[in-house]
Amino acid sequence: MIGATYFRLVTARRLTTLVLCLALIASACGTPAPSASPAASAGPSVASPGSSSAAAPWLDPTAATDDRVAALLAEMTLAEKIGQMTLVEKGSIDAGGVRDAVVGGVLSGGGGSPPDNTPAGWHEMVAAYQSAASETRLGIPILYGVDAVHGHNNVIGATIFPHNIGLGAVGDPALVEKVGRATALETAATGIRWDYAPVIAVPQDIRWGRTYEGYGESTALVAGLGSAFVRGLQGGGNLAADGAVAATPKHFVGDGGTAWGTSGQGGYRIDQGVTAGDEALIRELYLPPYEDAIEAGARIIMASFSGTEAGGKIHGDRHWLTEVLKDELGFSGFLVSDWEAINQVDSDYTTAVTQSINAGIDMVMVPYDYTLFQRVLTDVVAGGGVAQERIDDAVARILRVKFEMGLFEQPMPDLRETLVGAADHRTLAREAVARSMTLLKTTGDVLPLRGDADVLLAGAGADDIGIQSGGWTISWQGSDGEITPGTSIAEGLVEEFGDRVRLVTPRELNDAAPAKVGVLVIAERPYAEGVGDSAVLRPFQRDVDLLPVMRSKVDRLIVLLVSGRPLVVPEVFETADAVVAAWLPGTEGAGVADVLAGKRPFEGRTPYTWPVAPDDAPRTGKDACDGAVFPAGYGLAADGRLLGEQPCPGG
Ligand code: BGC
Ligand code: BGC
Repeated sequence: MIGATYFRLVTARRLTTLVLCLALIASACGTPAPSASPAASAGPSVASPGSSSAAAPWLDPTAATDDRVAALLAEMTLAEKIGQMTLVEKGSIDAGGVRDAVVGGVLSGGGGSPPDNTPAGWHEMVAAYQSAASETRLGIPILYGVDAVHGHNNVIGATIFPHNIGLGAVGDPALVEKVGRATALETAATGIRWDYAPVIAVPQDIRWGRTYEGYGESTALVAGLGSAFVRGLQGGGNLAADGAVAATPKHFVGDGGTAWGTSGQGGYRIDQGVTAGDEALIRELYLPPYEDAIEAGARIIMASFSGTEAGGKIHGDRHWLTEVLKDELGFSGFLVSDWEAINQVDSDYTTAVTQSINAGIDMVMVPYDYTLFQRVLTDVVAGGGVAQERIDDAVARILRVKFEMGLFEQPMPDLRETLVGAADHRTLAREAVARSMTLLKTTGDVLPLRGDADVLLAGAGADDIGIQSGGWTISWQGSDGEITPGTSIAEGLVEEFGDRVRLVTPRELNDAAPAKVGVLVIAERPYAEGVGDSAVLRPFQRDVDLLPVMRSKVDRLIVLLVSGRPLVVPEVFETADAVVAAWLPGTEGAGVADVLAGKRPFEGRTPYTWPVAPDDAPRTGKDACDGAVFPAGYGLAADGRLLGEQPCPGG
């Protein structure tokens, strides 16, 4: 509803602009604005935002956005335009580089933190780039981008929310919208207004290392939650509002549908591969979440590393990027490429640049050698390989979004250290964790745990913030260990049950005294992207090895699976009295104890089919229980009552 209203407003505004343009014909809309002197058009300074020169018409915040775009575009040289189309990783450019190459954006790749990884350190870094941009001839602010995919996850001390797979298990758009809002507040608090999220892939094969970044295998679920995240992140419609962060639904289109064995990337198996199926299937499974995200106000979309059988790499495919996304869906924001992804369009870089810009990429995440990119694109334009109109269209789209975001008035949000990891955000994350707990099996009266039960707790993932947070946490791949402040699952249980909980190391388990209840955490170790592609879908073997010992010590055994996807663990289902999928909960592990203790009910339902064997992982075109233990949508209440779908026969 909110989305539809916003869409109508945008349409209405566009019509108003058109009418104005017709009325003013020559002056504002198409023809070059009067030349402003370099001094007059120096742009807002970071120190005193909004101090604008009246002489530059694009600096008038009361003017219509399209008029401001036209006026500024008319003033720009080709080098300045190509500059706007350039996005560089911060490790490859300093403030001087931003000034000299007039780049349009700078990003932090996964784990791309400043040396001082504090909110103040981040804010200072972004401010330095922004200040350099303000010193360029036209003073166009940069966009600084970051992957805040489960909270502002590169920043030590930020609230880390469950990965999207956990939010998919809850399936509540209102919760996702709140998570988006909190993520935006923490991100903006460090000076950043651009987030490469949400992932609105519809993963069809959980062997994909990015499965946990998706909300689930159902198109409708992803569309509903993805658009809710966009609304939350963007503050409900006004992109210029304080604390609003621009969303970037990704990766357009079909990234979740690639076939095993089609990845051309060294070591990867399915990530960045070729999407199975024809155009009709791609439209049916993977396109709807983009329609909803655009309706919810998304103004930036990231293209996918993947390709299609018919058209090759998406980054070079004009059909999907321009004909479908921009023309058919009417997307008037800008398209950003993924990390060095245009290079995969062709082995010849000039051809790759030409083809991807002509296909519809507006801003290029280079991310390293921006000098080369700018030189090549300049030459290509000079030689007629890319038309001037295509460049103008790309730059107009980028500028439009920058104006809509209010960057020219306020390029740098204030540092708000107390918002990062704020108590109410952590409370929200804890609630999300609790609601995502998915009970897969239970017998008798195992759950909830009774207050007088003594609990033996083991598994390396029981007391490890890094393991329970997964990839895209502090570093790109994530890692085990105390990488950021938070509450581990063990700490949550101790908070609840005090010294009746005995946490033992794997080595201590052999000699541990028996207990009424055992809780064993069996986990994957963190991974991201294609590094996590898995042919076996197994947890860390040393965790599984603890299963027989733990079983022999306790009357009742509960296994917590901490993982980015369903796992093939028949021995766990056979051995344990209860099995809980905890997904990748993030920093607020106390939410796990809330449910085990019965303070909150089990609500989660697996958003992905639980396969019998790894070969059963691909789901497209299969019946719900074909090769499945549990269908998507299955989950139990503590007393064993079904919350959704029936388990599969034999499951
Ligand atoms: C990923 C994107 C991400 C980008 C920047 C790429 O490898 O595919 O999802 O936004 O890196 O970190
Ligand atoms: C970056 C990630 C990026 C990846 C792509 C890493 O070095 O940190 O953001 O997605 O490279 O391969």
